[in-house]
Amino acid sequence: MMKKLTLLFVEIIALVLLNPALAQTAAYTVIANPGENASTEIRLNWHTNTGSGDSYITYTKRADKNWKNAITVKADQALCTVFDSIYSKKPGGEDFYENARFIRNTIALLGLKPGTEYKYKLSSEKPSSENSFSVENGEIRYFKTAPENEKWTMGIISDMHVYPPIPGRQIAAMKMIRQLEKRNKKPFDMMLHVGDVAAWGGSYSFWSTLYADSTFSKYVWAGVNGNHDNMTRRYALSNEFFRNVNNNPVNGYAGETGVSYHFTYGNTLFIMLNSEAMRTDEGLAKAQDWTREVIKNNPARYIIVVEHYQWFMGGDGSSSQYSRWKELFDQCGVDLAISGNNHIYVRTNALYAGRETDGTKGTVYIQTPSSDNERGQSMGELLYNNDLIKSRWTEGNKTVGALIMKAGKKHLTLILYDRNGTPIDQVSVKSKPDKIYGNH
Ligand SMILES: [Fe+2]
Repeated sequence: MMKKLTLLFVEIIALVLLNPALAQTAAYTVIANPGENASTEIRLNWHTNTGSGDSYITYTKRADKNWKNAITVKADQALCTVFDSIYSKKPGGEDFYENARFIRNTIALLGLKPGTEYKYKLSSEKPSSENSFSVENGEIRYFKTAPENEKWTMGIISDMHVYPPIPGRQIAAMKMIRQLEKRNKKPFDMMLHVGDVAAWGGSYSFWSTLYADSTFSKYVWAGVNGNHDNMTRRYALSNEFFRNVNNNPVNGYAGETGVSYHFTYGNTLFIMLNSEAMRTDEGLAKAQDWTREVIKNNPARYIIVVEHYQWFMGGDGSSSQYSRWKELFDQCGVDLAISGNNHIYVRTNALYAGRETDGTKGTVYIQTPSSDNERGQSMGELLYNNDLIKSRWTEGNKTVGALIMKAGKKHLTLILYDRNGTPIDQVSVKSKPDKIYGNH
C-alpha cells in the first residue's frame, strides 16, 4: 500500500515537473512578509523560471468578490544564482548538485488597509483590463495586514530543519501549527519563526517544498536567519539564502539588509536579528548600535527582540546570549526577548539588572523548543541561573512544541503547547505604563 502510494506520488511530481506550461508560467517559493509598518505594507517574494518574462501580482480585498477593485502591479525582477549547483540530497536520498537559477520577483504593496484580509494572484501576463481578469485562472492566495488596534494573535515556531529525505520533520512542524490553530480556535493574524526552517539553507528545494505546504502558505511570515538556514551541506556560510527566499523590509544595517530588519505590528515593535552576524564582538557591536537606534526611533507599547541563538543553555541553565544582551535590554526597555536554536524551551519572568522583578520593569526571556520530532535535546539538572529560569521543557530528541502569543492593551500572553495541544507553560509580559507609551 505504502509503496503504491509512493509510486503514485512520484508520478504526480513527474507530471508537474514535465508539464512545460506549468513550468514556464508558475510562480513558486511564494511568501508574504510584513512591511516596516505591517498595518499598511506587505512585501511579497516569489520565484519564476528564467525566460518566463515579466511577472505580475493582481490583488484586492478578500471581500471584493468579483475582483472589481483589483490592482495589478509588475514585480521587480532579478536573476538569483545563490542556490545554483549546491551539493545536496534528493528526497530519495541520492546526492546531487541542485540546479537552481531562477528569477526572483519582489514587490512591496503599500497603502493597504489595516486589519484586512487580501487575496492575490500571480501571473506572467498582465490582464488586458482589470475587469477581464479571470478569477478561475491561477491560484488565489491570501494575506492579512496587521490590525491597528491593540489585539492580535501570532503562532511562534522554530527549529523544524526541513529536510526532504525525512519528510516527517516538516509534517510534524505543520501539524503543530494546526494544533495551535485549534487551540486558538481560528487562524492567526501572522506567524513568527525563530530560525532553522531549513536543514541546509543553501539547498533550494528545501525552501520550495516547505513554502508549498498549505499550512505554511496561508500566513504572513516574519522570521530570523538560523545557523542551518545560513549554510550548505558543505558548511559554506551565507545570509543570501535567507535573503532570497524572503522579501523583508530593507531597513537593516550594512551587510544585513533584508536579513536583519524591524517592523511594527499594531502596538508592537519587532526587531529581527541575524545571529550569524553577531558571533564576533565587532558583529555584536554593529547589531547593538542598530538595535538602539531602531528602538529610539520607533516608540511602541511592546518591544520584542528576536534572534536565533539561545539566551540560556537549556541543558543546565548556564547563560548564553543572555550575558551579551541583558545590559542593552535593560537600558532600552525591551519587554520580550525570543530565541530558539537550543531545542529546549527555557523561560524567565521579567528580569532587570540580573534579578527578577514584579513585571512592571524588565525583559521576559523565552526560547522556543524544536518542532521536528527528531533533532530535540534532552536536559539535565538546572545547575545555573536557578533564580532566573522559571521553566524548562523538552521531550528529548523527539520534541514537538510551539507557542501562541496574544497581545492586548495590558499585556502579552505567551503559552507553550505540546503536540497534543496541552498547555505546558504560560507567561505574561506587562505593557509599558500608558504615561510612558503615551508620551510619544
Ligand atoms: Fe536548530
